[in-house]
Amino acid sequence: MKALIITDQSEPVEIVEKPIPEPINGQVRVKLKAAALNRRDQWIRQGMYPNIQFGKVLGSDGAGVIEAIGEGVSESLVGKEVIINPNVNWGSDPKAQASDYSVLGMPTHGTFAEYIVVEVDRLQDKPEHLNWSEAAALPLAGLTAYRALFHHGAASAGKIVLISGVGGGVAQFAFQFALAAGCNVYVTSGSKEKMQKCISMGAKGAYSYREEAWFKKVQKETDGFDVVIDSAGGNQINDFIKIMKPAGRIVFYGATNGTPEKLDMFRMFWNQITLQGSTMGNDQEFEAMVAFVNEHQIKPVVDSERPFDQIISAFDEMKAGKQFGKLVLEF
Ligand SMILES: NC(=O)c1ccc[n+]([C@@H]2O[C@H](COP(=O)([O-])OP(=O)(O)OC[C@H]3O[C@@H](n4cnc5c(N)ncnc54)[C@H](OP(=O)(O)O)[C@@H]3O)[C@@H](O)[C@H]2O)c1
Repeated sequence: MKALIITDQSEPVEIVEKPIPEPINGQVRVKLKAAALNRRDQWIRQGMYPNIQFGKVLGSDGAGVIEAIGEGVSESLVGKEVIINPNVNWGSDPKAQASDYSVLGMPTHGTFAEYIVVEVDRLQDKPEHLNWSEAAALPLAGLTAYRALFHHGAASAGKIVLISGVGGGVAQFAFQFALAAGCNVYVTSGSKEKMQKCISMGAKGAYSYREEAWFKKVQKETDGFDVVIDSAGGNQINDFIKIMKPAGRIVFYGATNGTPEKLDMFRMFWNQITLQGSTMGNDQEFEAMVAFVNEHQIKPVVDSERPFDQIISAFDEMKAGKQFGKLVLEF
């Protein structure tokens, strides 16, 4: 089968031929129909991820058809259309992952291959309203957005929510989930087009984080936010602190722009502000996320689809950051 692996060569990702993997006890083999990129895959390509193991197949997101089963797995599952939960060993504590937790696609072989073998309990039925590309776009980003927004952000109908950097793979889910939950949703973006698109999808307001004083406009036009969902981090965290309602929650699942040089702790304690980190989500949250997507018939935004053998161009687009929605590979 064709698979994309990470190497120690000058172009660190390459498509190679590998044997088709065989499922053993409790495992199944899925023939992938589509897979999707995450920022994590590009971090690994750039060598900016902990414990990279050369030769591993990358990719955390995928959807496909169960093709073969190992011992102890019901034969009736063959032919089932599934999506893959990218959690590997979350562990027994719903509040946080175990120390041996990892995300599918490093160090376990991932979804950028024609076939993958996974434990049968990693699979969920593919939502019927999604095509293969949309289904493959959902798992990692949907799970991350779901936990950040609902568990840590406690977002619910009527809450005023800001989704920062809405063009991001995770942020676009946070945006759609918040709208579906009946929140009043605002966004920031570096792109006017993405801002307009979000207004047309139901955002109450959109601001450009490229304008230095964007948060002053927010102060004029709103009464502040109950929840901010962010992955950029950096000094902008202090702008968020200025535009929170009392007892507001800033939830961050990434820090693409690094840590802030200083933090306005005075305003934080006076206004009872929470700054909360979030990573992925537990297996119950994965199930709940898929149920939420089915209930609200949410469709992931797919930026583009291309054949698997053009995957390197998708990595380059991810690096350039021009996409709105997920970059999908078809097999
Ligand atoms: N902890 C976890 O479980 C977890 C899971 C997934 C991702 N992450 C991390 O979260 C980050 C985002 O991941 P992703 O897959 O969503 O990446 P992505 O699709 O590449 O999105 C990045 C987005 O960041 C936005 N951005 C850039 N500069 C910004 C700024 N100054 N203020 C606000 N937004 C800004 C851009 O939004 P616009 O396009 O709208 O300008 C861009 O689209 C990465 O660091 C990733 O490693 C963590």
